[in-house]
Amino acid sequence: MKIFITGGAGYIGSHTCVELLNAGYEVVVYDNLSNSSPQALQRVEKITGKSVQFIQGDIRDETVTTEAIQGCDGVIHFAGLKAVGESVAKPLDYYENNVYGTLCLLRAMQSNNIKTIVFSSSATVYGDPEYLPFDEIHPLRTTNPYGQTKLVIEEILRDLYKSDTSWKIMILRYFNPVGAHESGLIGEDPQGLPNNLMPFVAQVAIGRRESLNVFGDDYDTHDGTGVRDYIHVMDLASGHLKALEALTFPQCTAINLGSGIGYSVLDLVNAFIKATDKPIPFIITPRREGDIAEFYADPTLAKNLLGWSAQRNLDQMCRDTWNFQSQNPQGYV
Ligand code: NAD
Ligand code: UD1
Repeated sequence: MKIFITGGAGYIGSHTCVELLNAGYEVVVYDNLSNSSPQALQRVEKITGKSVQFIQGDIRDETVTTEAIQGCDGVIHFAGLKAVGESVAKPLDYYENNVYGTLCLLRAMQSNNIKTIVFSSSATVYGDPEYLPFDEIHPLRTTNPYGQTKLVIEEILRDLYKSDTSWKIMILRYFNPVGAHESGLIGEDPQGLPNNLMPFVAQVAIGRRESLNVFGDDYDTHDGTGVRDYIHVMDLASGHLKALEALTFPQCTAINLGSGIGYSVLDLVNAFIKATDKPIPFIITPRREGDIAEFYADPTLAKNLLGWSAQRNLDQMCRDTWNFQSQNPQGYV
């Protein structure tokens, strides 16, 4: 089986390539490298001892994509822009890249009669919780353009399935991906100031940042700091493999990929200190606008439909993050 992986040079894509290659799939990575380095793919080859076919291209270019995708059996679609704050400042870029790009990809698939797709959605489609944990039937609404692009793409996929019920579509709603491959060869390498907690903590530990700002300690949570459902990126990668394996019959299904456990900012900081023996100086600052107190997944559907559940705990997430960060102090250079 040959799988076309859009955004396969990125953080989650590169880890998923490892998982697929180890399971015997062939992969074709299609990426414009706008937020990634080709080095990640060289390292995927090093980890697996297998070769990765790489095509540098943009999903918004339907003609090139239609040609590149020829001969593939299915698609995992990671390509997209993902920074919430940037999406508020540049909504048109987000709609163009994520929504228009996905339309072009789906047309390229149609032209080649490829009807199997696993799509990277996000827990952000649930918005403020009406109840917790989030299950897949929780109402959907988002509060920013990034989230809106995910929601619109989900709706496009549902409409596409309604129009042609031979499609095999799996929508995966990720919670908070962190960690790195255990080799420390690949991991998350954000450009500029990290938006997300774990990469920021890792950069404080390596000395690239002086201290962590903890955004608020007055939430209604066990220690006042925000609670999230962190999931190891290799668990996420194995979720994609399970999703592909489950697409043996036509469907359009949305599934949460989370651990089901919520940890606070301070839980994560303390786990990181324990796992790495590195001090993490922090200061409490006001809440970040748009943040919610807590969210975590109900992962039951993933267990029932995919036979998947998260295996790696918070200590392992911290250890593997540090392993990548300490071996690659400046990221991929
Ligand atoms: P990433 O930025 O590391 O990877 C995305 C990849 O897509 C990059 O390699 C980038 O160069 C490529 N890309 C972007 N636009 C493209 C285009 N028009 N054509 C071709 N390639 C393009 O991000 P990631 O963390 O690996 O996320 C992968 C997917 O998962 C994204 O769709 C993201 O929205 C989604 N997601 C991520 C998170 C997270 O916290 N990392 C959480 C929920 C959902
Ligand atoms: C962010 C995205 C969300 C995306 C999710 C998973 C925003 C507003 N939301 O959410 O769309 O789906 O990542 O990747 O960007 N924190 C600090 N200090 C920091 C960074 C974060 O205290 O420097 C806190 C936050 O307030 C939050 C927790 O750490 O309580 C996690 O933050 P983050 O990693 O940014 O993830 P989310 O807020 O869940």
